Amino acid sequence: MITTERINSLRAVRQQRGSEQWGFVATMGFLHEGHLSLVRKARAENEAVAVSIFVNPTQFAPEEDLTSYPHDTDRDSQLLINENVDLLFIPPIDVIYPPAFQTSVTVNELSKPLEGRARPTHFQGVTTIMTKLLNIVQPSRAYFGQKDAQQCVVIKRMVEDLNIDVEIIMCPIVREPDGLAMSSRNVRLSPEDRSAATIIFHALEQVAKRVIGGERSGDLLRRLMRDTLRTEPRAKIEYVSVADPETLEELPYVHDSALLSTAVFFGGVRLIDNELLTNLS
Ligand code: PAJ
Repeated sequence: MITTERINSLRAVRQQRGSEQWGFVATMGFLHEGHLSLVRKARAENEAVAVSIFVNPTQFAPEEDLTSYPHDTDRDSQLLINENVDLLFIPPIDVIYPPAFQTSVTVNELSKPLEGRARPTHFQGVTTIMTKLLNIVQPSRAYFGQKDAQQCVVIKRMVEDLNIDVEIIMCPIVREPDGLAMSSRNVRLSPEDRSAATIIFHALEQVAKRVIGGERSGDLLRRLMRDTLRTEPRAKIEYVSVADPETLEELPYVHDSALLSTAVFFGGVRLIDNELLTNLS
């Protein structure tokens, strides 16, 4: 695996390797099985694989956990060597945002609800860094996790709107054995909060079952998700949602598909999770 901090040397590697199809996985590091599932899919579907590790400051609001975001680059690097990754891009901050930097990319409507309501500057940070990384790496395919379902929807819209020549592939959520979605932030949960946090998957499963059983009222389903989460006193709910998976608008009634999603705080740690239901009718 070649590791580089520089855009020029990354481009040199891309050029040397000729017209190979590259798969790309963008991460903020502290890798777990969720990240590695994307890397494995990229490895299986492409001739070469690039991974980036960059904790992107512009997608964190000032009060968020940028400075405490966990990192362990040596461990990450070894995990990626084990997955037979070709290229690891770990840029320092000034390579990505030099002092004169002043451009941003915004996906207007899809960035507003759900995560965007709670974190109004978040997606502009994500879409700007992803435009840069896709331009730098120029992959044929880029892999993202359904764990961040809105991020997938926003990035798909962006590459279509800006004619970026890449296929965006969404991969399933990888969970711990007790159902908690894997996240780099899980290590910051206290033992009590870690076990309480299983309520998130439980609440999503309850609602999914009701939908599959025929319940169609968005209000009732949102109430059920909220009520189930409230059975765990340690959970501080930020939002619950039953939305259209493409427009991300709240559904008064569920028809063919629904994105069930929630953001919940445990202690100071913000966790998100979702379930995507399709082909319901
Ligand atoms: P990060 O949170 O490090 O996640 C990198 C990728 O791994 C994302 O596509 C995310 O959805 C996926 N992922 C995380 N946990 C997962 C899980 N449990 N199962 C499946 N996939 C999972 O998302 C970001 O970084 C950043 O916003 C980024 C896209 C890198 C831009 O800075």
